[in-house]
Amino acid sequence: MISVLSLKGGVGKTSVTLGLAGAAQSRGLRTLVVDLDPQANATVVLDPAKIEFTANDVLADGRAGILSQAVVASGWGDGIGLVASERALEHRAVPEGEGNVRLRITMQGIQGYDLVLLDTPPALGELTRNALSASDLALVVTEPSLFALQGAQQALESIEVVRSYNLRLQVAGIVVNRVRPTSSEHRYRMAELALAYGDLLLQPPLPDRAVVQQAAGACTPIQHWRSPSGREVARILDSYLDRLLSVALDSGPLRSVH
Ligand SMILES: Nc1ncnc2c1ncn2[C@@H]1O[C@H](COP(=O)(O)OP(=O)(O)OP(=O)(O)O)[C@@H](O)[C@H]1O
Ligand SMILES: [Mg+2]
Repeated sequence: MISVLSLKGGVGKTSVTLGLAGAAQSRGLRTLVVDLDPQANATVVLDPAKIEFTANDVLADGRAGILSQAVVASGWGDGIGLVASERALEHRAVPEGEGNVRLRITMQGIQGYDLVLLDTPPALGELTRNALSASDLALVVTEPSLFALQGAQQALESIEVVRSYNLRLQVAGIVVNRVRPTSSEHRYRMAELALAYGDLLLQPPLPDRAVVQQAAGACTPIQHWRSPSGREVARILDSYLDRLLSVALDSGPLRSVH
């Protein structure tokens, strides 16, 4: 179970989440995407035929294991399930004074997936803390900007807080997204991030490529885009998936989800 998070909006959390789901699908891994962002961007791109219950209903209910009843088939074909989001999830962001384990309880006993990806809203509030509390791995996404270092640092601090009560949680790394190697500003920020985070930075960074937007706009996995830039991005996402799976395996036997 992997949370994808960042403090800042629009840095590519949803694109990375969906890119990893597509990479997993190409390998035949069974994947569940849980959309915890009230903006519901991942839900729209995964294009399910019908939605009966959403993550909002799941969190409102709160019963152990109830999340599995909200899983629907995505429009991406075999092997990718979705727990959809909706605008009303925003109201769940109001603290209810019961800790951050509500989502985790609803996910108990979930079966049939090799990978669960949780897309989070652009804040480190209650929804993101619930995602982290339910996760084995946390993947931070950032951009090569002035605020990147500060944003990544705050995300790592939030992960650290959740680690005090979710002992399984590991930082899987930091994805730097939308990098333009020709930009001297980007090269400067990449060097700054590399100095601060070293091996935590996933290499290579994800380049800024129009195909990422085209794939989302067409509600298809980027892995279906056979252009050179589509293949380039798909290859990088595949290497990220390798890293996530190896961190998960290194941090002890994966809990059986089959
Ligand atoms: N590598 C990339 N190259 C080009 N465009 C990208 C790339 N990554 C993301 N984008 C585009 O940037 C925009 C924001 O990306 P995305 O929605 O994934 O960010 P987010 O962090 O999930 O945003 P939010 O915080 O609002 O949830 C989208 O239009 C997306 O298509
Ligand atoms: Mg998003």
